[in-house]
Formats: sequence, C-alpha cells, structure tokens
Amino acid sequence: MTLREELARHLHSNFVSVDAERLGGLGKHYKGKVRDLFIGDDEIVMITSDRLSAFDVVLTSIPCKGAILNAIAVNAFAQTADICANHLIEVPHPNIVRVRKADALPIEIVVRRHVTGSLWRDVEADRHGVYEVPLPEGIRKDQRLDDIIITPSTKAEIGVHDEPISRRVILERGLVSEAVLDKAYDVARKLFLRGEALAAEQGLILVDTKYEMGLIDGELILIDEIHTADSSRYWIASEFDARFAAGEPQAMLDKENIRQWLIGQGYMGEGEIPHFPDDVRLDLAEVYCRLHERLLGRPFVPPARDVAETVYEALAV
Ligand SMILES: Nc1ncnc2c1ncn2[C@@H]1O[C@H](COP(=O)(O)OP(=O)(O)OP(=O)(O)O)[C@@H](O)[C@H]1O
Ligand SMILES: [Mg+2]
Repeated sequence: MTLREELARHLHSNFVSVDAERLGGLGKHYKGKVRDLFIGDDEIVMITSDRLSAFDVVLTSIPCKGAILNAIAVNAFAQTADICANHLIEVPHPNIVRVRKADALPIEIVVRRHVTGSLWRDVEADRHGVYEVPLPEGIRKDQRLDDIIITPSTKAEIGVHDEPISRRVILERGLVSEAVLDKAYDVARKLFLRGEALAAEQGLILVDTKYEMGLIDGELILIDEIHTADSSRYWIASEFDARFAAGEPQAMLDKENIRQWLIGQGYMGEGEIPHFPDDVRLDLAEVYCRLHERLLGRPFVPPARDVAETVYEALAV
C-alpha cells in the first residue's frame, strides 16, 4: 500500500474527539481547538486530535495529523531542552503527552525570519504598525529578514481571534511582567535559531513559528507544542531564491497549504465553512508526513488500529 492509501484508510475514522466522560477521572476536561486536556493538580494529560483549525476556527480533520504533530513536538522539545525547560514528562501513546501544568502567559510569542502570512497581509493593509517592530523599506512578500523579529499576539478565549499586540502594550496592560517578558523574548530567539539551524540541516527554512510559555513556581517553561507544522511555517530551502525572484508562492511543508486553499474558496474565518474534498485532506496529510520524515529522519508510519481505541487502552480507561 502507498502512504496515501494508508492515510486514506483513516479518512473516515480519524481521531476527532475523545469521550470526555470516559476520561474524566484523569482531571478537568478542557477542549482546545486541536487538543483535549485533562487537567490535574500538577499535571495535564494532553491528547492531540486530528482536528484542523485555521483562522482560529476548527474546520475539518486531517488523517494522522495528531500523531504527527505530537511526534514533531516531542522531538523538538528534546532538541531544545538545553535552551529552556519544557513541560514534557512522558509520551504514553503517539497522540498523548503527560506534561507539567503551568500558568500559561496570556500571549503567544511569534518569531519570524520572513515576512509572509498574516504579517504580509498586515503590511499590505498597512496595519503592521500595531507590533511597533520596524520593517525594512520596500519589503516584499516572503522576503527574508537579516534579523529575526517578534510579533506577539494575545491568547484569546475559544471562538475569539488572537489579537496582534506590541511589547509595549503587553507591559502597559500588565499581561506579563517586564522581567518575564524579557526572558521569554530571549528564550524565543534562541529557540528559533536552534530550530532554524536544525531545519536547515534537512534542507528546510523555518520561516516563522509560535511559542507558548508558562510559569511553574516562578520558572519560565515552554508549553503546548513547538516547531510543528501547525505552529510554524517551513519552506523548501533549495527552491526559495528562484520562487522569490519570480514572485511565486514558496514550496510549503505546513498548514499554510490549506490556508491558501481556503482563501481560494473565499474563506478567511468568517461565514460558511467550505466542504473539504478528501483529496485536499489527504494532500495536507501527506505534507505533514513529509515534514515528519525530514525533521525526524524517519517516515511517519500510520497506525494499523483505530486511534481512539488505542488512546483509551494507553490511558487504561
Ligand atoms: N503545560 C501546560 N500548562 C498549561 N496549559 C497548557 C500547557 N500546555 C498547553 N497548554 C494549553 O493547552 C491548550 C492546548 O490546546 P490547543 O492547542 O488545542 O489550543 P489552541 O488552539 O492553541 O488554543 P485554544 O486553547 O484557545 O483553543 C492551549 O490553550 C495551551 O495554552
Ligand atoms: Mg495550541
């Protein structure tokens, strides 16, 4: 069977939700856009589903996406643990991590090497000033920046869009103390440079990424996910120059593929959700598999069994 055929076997049985009642003994249930959390006193059981969100809306599911994201994040946590402590305790199942519970900072720290995606849309609409981060004159879509920049956003409640914000306004509103924010920015820059170097070894450009951090007993730790295809953009390095010179879209190994497809359908987070043909879902599943193979140096192997069943087995419920 080809990889696509194996992924197709999961198209209609993929892992979209968990039975929260059955898992209730693990802690208080919180349903994020992609993850289901069971929150205990000091620890969280975090289950990564196959749900796909874009523009802050859950839209469909992508076969095996949860396991792929989890594998990439677990790998990247190991590769960056010397820079910043992270929340990972153990991986009881390909879709599950047991983590330390933190007080999440109410911001997301977005680090960028290139000007693209929402920042490019902001530049075009001349609203990028909100970040209070200077950009070079005459910037073009996808252009590389000599120095990475941080364009933070607020972390909104479910159903509300994250809002762009500046370092100054984060401090003015007292969202994070200056000492913690300075540390978070410093760590985020170091993490990005590490992720960028590791990606480059695999012929990839880490274009931009989003970090979430939290505090445990006053110590800053990395939480949620890191350097995945959901939280980052990756481009094929060898194709960058020619495509940039020609003004063509980059070869993308991330969620941006589906954002572009959605924009083509006239969807940007408002109104009726378009129907996702199976081929579009499989195309994205293959993209996530290719990124897994590059970053981990081994192919992703789709599970033989139904994911939900093995999740309940692993958690002994
Ligand atoms: N170690 C941790 N301690 C506390 N919260 C955490 C930890 N790791 C992740 N989280 C939180 O768990 C949630 C993960 O869920 P998910 O990734 O599905 O959500 P999201 O799409 O990022 O945002 P939302 O929660 O607003 O839906 C996030 O709100 C994240 O901040
Ligand atoms: Mg998240």
